[in-house]
Amino acid sequence: MTIPAGSLLVAQDLRKAYGPTTALDGAEFSIHPGEVVAVMGPSGSGKSTLLHCLAGIVMPDSGSITYAGREVTAMSDAERSALRRSEFGFVFQFGQLVPELTCVENVALPLRLNGSSRKEAERTALAWMERLEVDDLRKKRPGEVSGGQGQRVAVARSLVTNPRVVFADEPTGALDSFNGERVMELLTDAARSANAAVVLVTHEARVAAYSDREIVVRDGRSRDMERVI
Ligand SMILES: Nc1ncnc2c1ncn2[C@@H]1O[C@H](COP(=O)(O)OP(=O)(O)OP(=O)(O)O)[C@@H](O)[C@H]1O
Ligand SMILES: [Mg+2]
Repeated sequence: MTIPAGSLLVAQDLRKAYGPTTALDGAEFSIHPGEVVAVMGPSGSGKSTLLHCLAGIVMPDSGSITYAGREVTAMSDAERSALRRSEFGFVFQFGQLVPELTCVENVALPLRLNGSSRKEAERTALAWMERLEVDDLRKKRPGEVSGGQGQRVAVARSLVTNPRVVFADEPTGALDSFNGERVMELLTDAARSANAAVVLVTHEARVAAYSDREIVVRDGRSRDMERVI
């Protein structure tokens, strides 16, 4: 593959097997700073595995991943976890908020883990919650808010450290279409204004429509799909 000039995150020839199951079979990927890329494809095709490899959560069996000129696939576990904490944000389908913490404490958590004081972390967290229109939920716990509100809180948390890349795996998968579109609109607007790239895994064409570019994964292999408008 020719690596597009100026790419922030590049993966080449990724292979990953779970026992007899091939999850990735030569997948490739690249994203520019601030770009929103949707990863589409059938269930079991390897989308989540690709996302987890790109995010340094899962190590591929072979192939290379480079982030900002640094080879992620050559890093130690500690280096990869430091990279995740400082450069990446995450939103998953559901269940990622800590039930015992209030919404503002949840959003502030990545900053607290990076060493910020509670006051400082919660001030930054509230600014992001305002942007995602969930600041009125600051004192509520995740069990006391709706699915759409919870996902907006999760999006605020994914952006609070000012990451360069947000990884989102089916972030609207558990929402109705109205709430799903609202979450996508707020996620992509907030990411674009912060110049954060977004890797968005989704089944839904209407969610992928918020991206700049789409790639399709089939049987562990990826290819660019020209946007059909
Ligand atoms: N931890 C694991 N252990 C064993 N097999 C796994 C594991 N993770 C994924 N697989 C297998 O690897 C293949 C790709 O899985 P993956 O989760 O990446 O698919 P997906 O495209 O995200 O699917 P979905 O759309 O249903 O979320 C599947 O056959 C899956 O069963
Ligand atoms: Mg998946």
